[in-house]
Amino acid sequence: MHRRRLIRVPASSANLGPGFDAFAAAVAFHLDVEVEETGTFAVETDLPVPRDRSNLLVRAFERLAPADGLTFRVSSTIPMSGGLGSSAAAVVAGLVAADHLFELDADLLALATEIEGHPDNVAAALRGGFVVCADGDAVRFDPPDALEALVVVPGEAVHTAHARQALPATVPMADAVFNVAHGALLMLGLATGDLDLVGRGLADRLHQPHREPLYPRSAEIVREARSLGAIGATISGAGPTVLVWTTVEQAFGVHAALQQRARGWATVHRASFEPVGADVREL
Ligand code: HSE
Repeated sequence: MHRRRLIRVPASSANLGPGFDAFAAAVAFHLDVEVEETGTFAVETDLPVPRDRSNLLVRAFERLAPADGLTFRVSSTIPMSGGLGSSAAAVVAGLVAADHLFELDADLLALATEIEGHPDNVAAALRGGFVVCADGDAVRFDPPDALEALVVVPGEAVHTAHARQALPATVPMADAVFNVAHGALLMLGLATGDLDLVGRGLADRLHQPHREPLYPRSAEIVREARSLGAIGATISGAGPTVLVWTTVEQAFGVHAALQQRARGWATVHRASFEPVGADVREL
């Protein structure tokens, strides 16, 4: 039998301010992969990624099944400077493709977390919406209707591994307390649709201040976002991308203000929160 599958996986923004390695949201950029039994192993893509078996998507696939005889056609609209879960999307796409093609019913969240090293991005990519990761599980809920997102994507990339090295091994108790309080405000705000609480809940002391020297201009956008008319902003994942949180009504004006601020070093995109997670179609 000649099998062919289409897999679509969303981008994701992790941490959401106070939820380091625990909170994430799916964002409406997508990685698409068509996997076809052609009899020849190949990776066909215009993306700047390996086309041999060291390709991350193929490596994830091969955690579940050999990729012999399969052709992977990969395209993506996910910005690759860092912070929008492009690697998580590749890992999830590879795992979902193998799981579906070979009807394995594997624990994809556990495997993806192991490959990626942290659960937040892969959970949002798999499930869509907002996720809270704890105890090896991800609790998912829908984005509030009134909420919109914009992303500021710097041209200069930062590697997640490098940004993780910037973090201290221990944190002061006062900072931990601060993040517990603000993470709770954020989740209460999202659950009840109270966007004032969402705005207050975006503050963080565990990771953003330590990473600021890696991307001072991104950090400045996070600080200025409210004065530009947004609800607030967070460093997206490990950065350097910034996730700017707005209402649907504010989005146009905030977009224009951000474009001025980003001129010459970053691009600004409208990117809604995405309720739909990884999806497979049989062809
Ligand atoms: N929680 C991870 C980090 C996300 O901040 O390092 C990486 O995308």
